[in-house]
Amino acid sequence: MVRVLFVCLGNICRSPMAEAVFAHKVREAGLEDAIEADSAGTGHWHVGEPPHSGTRRILAREGIAYAGRARLIAPADFDRFDYIVAMDRQNRRDIEAMGSGRARVVLFMDYAPHLGVAEVPDPYYDGRFDAVYDLVQEAAEGLLAAIRREHGL
Ligand code: 4NP
Repeated sequence: MVRVLFVCLGNICRSPMAEAVFAHKVREAGLEDAIEADSAGTGHWHVGEPPHSGTRRILAREGIAYAGRARLIAPADFDRFDYIVAMDRQNRRDIEAMGSGRARVVLFMDYAPHLGVAEVPDPYYDGRFDAVYDLVQEAAEGLLAAIRREHGL
């Protein structure tokens, strides 16, 4: 099983959207027995909460179900997961300061280089969930393709 953990700051806007969109693509590809997705945050403020209404609205529009609740990234995640996927550079620095292990810590937008966007902007402050969805959709596609190549799936 290849395990992928999407991480942002609050685990209510970007990373649950990325997890849900990526898991949806995994199911569409019939790879749900080979690739598993989860998400977590580096900040504790929203632990236990469902995603932000902006993320829920996008997922409902796309017909993607999501039942996850916000949680903090934990030391065990660094060995449990194969990929820990950060939404922005500060996020990657925070993750790397919180632990290390078997997991490769990567930047999500590196999987959609054709967009020329380095980071997924935080919609918590500006409400631009649609723009975030467009980035997430492209990067999830690229990440899934890369994992399939790297793991012969
Ligand atoms: P996220 O957005 O990292 O994409 O989930 C945020 C959610 C909450 C906060 C910041 C960013 N906050 O400061 O509570």
